[in-house]
Amino acid sequence: MNIRKGRIDDVDKVYRLYKKVSQTEGGIARFEDEVTEEYVEGFVKNALDDGVFIVAEKDGDIVGEIHGYKIGIRVFDHVLSNITIVVSPDFCGEGIGKKIFLKLIEEGKKIEGVSRMELIARESNKKALKFYESLGFEIEGKMRQRIKNSKGEFEADILMGIIF
Ligand SMILES: CC(C)(COP(=O)(O)OP(=O)(O)OC[C@H]1O[C@@H](n2cnc3c(N)ncnc32)[C@H](O)[C@@H]1OP(=O)(O)O)[C@@H](O)C(=O)NCCC(=O)NCCS
Repeated sequence: MNIRKGRIDDVDKVYRLYKKVSQTEGGIARFEDEVTEEYVEGFVKNALDDGVFIVAEKDGDIVGEIHGYKIGIRVFDHVLSNITIVVSPDFCGEGIGKKIFLKLIEEGKKIEGVSRMELIARESNKKALKFYESLGFEIEGKMRQRIKNSKGEFEADILMGIIF
């Protein structure tokens, strides 16, 4: 397993990973048909320009990815936001998520002035919420009825943050 900073030429492989992960509802917010190459290329460019982009590579495939980037408004310049993590369902529970998240924190802290990182996870994604708490993120708020799943049911989104 190779944990490294991502590059622009990783877009195709990251797109394939997101397609796979989005087939299971309950993780990332987007439905499968909303995972487009434009979406992936967009966050990759944002993270390369003004944030952190980390991949986990195994046998030439990207099996895990995490990114975060700044919001682009000066009052939020110390905030690494839009953090999203995915690990291939074939490799979940093997410690890849933890490794790439720790790398994102390490690299994010190196960005001058960054003193806060934040993310949002749906309330039912208990595994992810516990995982983020184990890394030091705290629950800061609950956005009620923010998610409407494919069955038309509402659920809350949980805002989490960590400060340094
Ligand atoms: C959330 C996700 C990124 C975790 O990645 P992972 O590689 O499986 O995580 P790890 O193996 O590093 O485990 C991290 C922690 O998650 C927890 N965890 C892992 N597998 C678990 C399981 N099957 N059940 C409950 N908790 C579990 C553990 O607390 C673990 O910490 P520990 O190693 O200190 O015990 C991954 O499951 C994923 O991509 N899910 C789908 C997309 C998603 O939900 N993204 C987040 C949107 S907010």
